[in-house]
Amino acid sequence: MATTMFEQDEDEEDINPFTMLLTQDENGDTKEHSTLHASPGVPQLQQHYIRSIDTELTIRQLPSQGLSFQLWPAATTLVNLPDDHRRDPRKGPLSAVLSAALDGPDRRRLKILELGSGTGLVGIAAAVMLGANVTVTDLPHVIPNLEFSAEANSKALTANGGNVVASALRWGEEADVEVIGPEFDLVLASDVVYHDHLYEPLLRTLYSLLSGRETTSFVRAHLRRWKKDSAFFKKARKAFNVEVLHEDTHSEGSRIGVVVYRFCGKQIRKLGLAKAENA
Ligand SMILES: C[S@@+](CC[C@H](N)C(=O)[O-])C[C@H]1O[C@@H](n2cnc3c(N)ncnc32)[C@H](O)[C@@H]1O
Repeated sequence: MATTMFEQDEDEEDINPFTMLLTQDENGDTKEHSTLHASPGVPQLQQHYIRSIDTELTIRQLPSQGLSFQLWPAATTLVNLPDDHRRDPRKGPLSAVLSAALDGPDRRRLKILELGSGTGLVGIAAAVMLGANVTVTDLPHVIPNLEFSAEANSKALTANGGNVVASALRWGEEADVEVIGPEFDLVLASDVVYHDHLYEPLLRTLYSLLSGRETTSFVRAHLRRWKKDSAFFKKARKAFNVEVLHEDTHSEGSRIGVVVYRFCGKQIRKLGLAKAENA
């Protein structure tokens, strides 16, 4: 059997996009998130106002087509952080991440990759707000909707010097990373940890993207739903330095809010873990 870089959990259960928006508090009680109240069969164009540039972005949700076609709660947090950064670049949790990527004599456009983009809001907003070259990625069947959303925001992108391309990137598929190329300053993702059979493929892709690139960070927003989510962190900490960058203020009556983490690959080589292609 091939060597694996991370241990794999056996726990496999069907995930339904609707129950996925349930969160579990520390007592094990579940709460429904408000994103879900739209009619599932109807394509929806959703507007998102970006305060720092006084611009509305548009994304298309197709809830009847599954969990890849709706906006998830953590995405909003990952749009708010660059919005805050743009308003005051010296403050805020993204400052250190972005200055690490941009410092040095070779000042140029940021290159950002988003994993599991879904509707694409996070990547498109980052491109617009940071004037960045962004590659939004997901499973192949999601790409046409990502292209639709990128096109819907072409005016805002051009006005702010940003650019978005959509490309298939299946977690754990080394060939997909090779096609896109690993040279990104920043990797973003929201709500990508939800099914334990995806933990290891996602970590392998992160390994390919961060390995040997000390200035590249993976910034990930996560709404904890189940206690088993912590297994992802346990595996991740074996290969990456993980720190909390930001925590949303919890809504009234809830002890759970979106948390934003930064992963860096500094210690990968020191740990002597197997390379992704051997996994
Ligand atoms: C819960 S949704 C989150 C979507 C979006 N990031 C958001 O926050 O609105 C998880 C996303 O991960 C994508 N995904 C799931 N498994 C994947 C895999 N093996 N490779 C690439 N993307 C995957 C799904 O298609 C989906 O778009």
